[in-house]
Amino acid sequence: MSTGRLEGKVAIITGAASGIGEATARLFVHHGAFIVIADIQDELGAQVAASIGEHRATYKHCDVRDEKQVEETVAFTVAKYGKLDIMYSNAGILGPIESILDMDISDGFDKTVAVNARGAAIAIKHAARVMVAGKVQGSIICTASTEATRAGRAPAAYVASKHAVLGLVRAAARELGPHGIRVNCVSPHGVATPMVCDVLGMDVASVEARFSGMGNLKGVVLKKDHVAEAVLFLASDESAYVSATNLSIDGGLSTMI
Ligand SMILES: NC(=O)c1ccc[n+]([C@@H]2O[C@H](COP(=O)([O-])OP(=O)(O)OC[C@H]3O[C@@H](n4cnc5c(N)ncnc54)[C@H](O)[C@@H]3O)[C@@H](O)[C@H]2O)c1
Repeated sequence: MSTGRLEGKVAIITGAASGIGEATARLFVHHGAFIVIADIQDELGAQVAASIGEHRATYKHCDVRDEKQVEETVAFTVAKYGKLDIMYSNAGILGPIESILDMDISDGFDKTVAVNARGAAIAIKHAARVMVAGKVQGSIICTASTEATRAGRAPAAYVASKHAVLGLVRAAARELGPHGIRVNCVSPHGVATPMVCDVLGMDVASVEARFSGMGNLKGVVLKKDHVAEAVLFLASDESAYVSATNLSIDGGLSTMI
């Protein structure tokens, strides 16, 4: 039964066929939202929507690198549900694990930045345009990373792309605040999702053991649901005066450097 935290709100979640996005999609619906799952994994995305229930969740193919597809997804959402209250720009890739000395500029840097940073810019732009036009006091949330404020072990292209996401969020919050639109991001540490497990070639338990050892908070293992709960807070009216914030979900790791 819905708690009403997102009762009647309409959300787009990019990258919601898997991982953090999928967990957030399920949580949003649990709290009363209608959602559009925007992803490029068509079969998986449709399965997620069907398992949530098609009266609440719809899958839409959307490559976030392509402005036209994002614009169409926003228009589709407004046509189907009548408005857009929440954009969660979450789609992302880790990109190839490579040294900057060997960085493949086209296949490494450009592709990673295209999904993570260009994709976020396009999502913010088109969500904001319909929110401003519809006078909706919406909430836009991006998935950044602990790599948005430091350079840990992730590849340079990923670090650069997530620093860019944080900059976009701050600039967008400044511009959109006068319209009553809030813009924030979440910055998780390592979560054992397909993005990480596939690239590292490790199973969920091994990834969790590796990352949970790095933070100073002991006794808790970071799960995708922890990230989803933070996104829910930023999406809901409980964070009504929170904007331009980078909410760390890292067990204190980012204060240790
Ligand atoms: N897992 C982690 O440790 C971690 C930590 C910090 C931040 N993040 C960020 O969290 C976000 C979600 O990643 P995840 O860990 O859940 O991984 P994931 O691989 O499970 O999910 C990412 C989703 O994004 C989709 N996607 C990729 N390229 C796309 C594109 N061009 N257009 C639309 N969708 C696309 C994928 O199909 C997938 O469904 C990413 O932005 C990632 O950088 C993850």
